[in-house]
Amino acid sequence: MTLQSFSLPSATERLTVSYDGIRRAAEIICHGGVVAFGTETVYGLGALSTSRKAVARIFDIKGRPSFNPLINHFATPDRAFAEVTLDIPLREQALALAERFWPGPLTLVLPRHEGSRICDTASAALPSLALRVPQGRAIQEMLRLIDAPVAAPSANRSGLISPSTASHVLSGLDGKIDAILDTGPSAVGVESTVVDLSGARPLLLRPGGITREALEEICGPVDTQTSDNHQPRSPGQLSSHYAPHLPLRLNADHIKASEALLAFGHIPGALRHSPLIWNLSENEDLAEAAARLFAGLHFLDYEGKRRNLSGIAAMPLPSHGMGLALLDRLRRAAAPRPHQN
Ligand code: TXA
Ligand code: MG
Repeated sequence: MTLQSFSLPSATERLTVSYDGIRRAAEIICHGGVVAFGTETVYGLGALSTSRKAVARIFDIKGRPSFNPLINHFATPDRAFAEVTLDIPLREQALALAERFWPGPLTLVLPRHEGSRICDTASAALPSLALRVPQGRAIQEMLRLIDAPVAAPSANRSGLISPSTASHVLSGLDGKIDAILDTGPSAVGVESTVVDLSGARPLLLRPGGITREALEEICGPVDTQTSDNHQPRSPGQLSSHYAPHLPLRLNADHIKASEALLAFGHIPGALRHSPLIWNLSENEDLAEAAARLFAGLHFLDYEGKRRNLSGIAAMPLPSHGMGLALLDRLRRAAAPRPHQN
């Protein structure tokens, strides 16, 4: 795209999925703007990874701590791999995972190539980079037009619930971002799975849209973070995150007075009298539950506050398949919130 004199929009532009809408989103990003757009996982807040100034705006808009690096988005695996070195012990695993899951909800962390132009603000000055090739016609087209890495965290204020629709994004960021490309509700509904391949064995940094079982089928055993290997390798895994304003209580087997209910499957009698219920999936389908998780938290929080409810109780969830990502998000949504109040 050519750089001519250009001024960023003065209010948040609403763009739709049309040739003009996608082109305008790409144009704003190419000129240093910040644009929210849908991906198959959640809505992202995108800017050029190579521009310190543009990336700094993402951190500022989100209120995100600067030590938490961003994921870089690309139109194709080739472009993604050009930013890193594959001269590593887990080279075959990296290629096999990309071949199987890209485009799709998987992020790979790999050692940065010395020639990469991704700025240190985006990578939090780490020696590794997080790469993702997202799925979806509109975002693929937009990334192709931009033809450069696009840094995009979830399009919410840091610590709050991730957005799976354009209206979730606008409820927090309207007026603060240059534009939003409304691509409809995100199909997967939870963020990408993040796997670190820069060490001796694959390490799962964040469970997400690709299940652990599916990963292991392709690349063999995957380690999980423990407090021992956690600190240096996943700076972004803050314990309190995805937090609604109302307090969240996990594994509920009863309902307290005026508590909303985040249900999963058949609702037992002891929970049925909750005044406000969102069922993630009546058929206990975990993919459906993931797609409805953030919308459910947004709804229960908004409507619960409006009705003066005291909190949200969540029913137990299984820990296999997509359940792992759901439990991770719920645990962090329920964790104490040192940064708030
Ligand atoms: O589905 C997704 O991944 C969404 C959409 C918009 O693509 N993006 C997203 O970004 O969830 P964000 O910023 O909310 O989460 C990025 C995660 C953080 O936990 C961060 O610490 C981790 O990726 N990360 C990024 N670079 C890393 C690196 N070099 N090493 C380890 N972890 C890294
Ligand atoms: Mg996020």
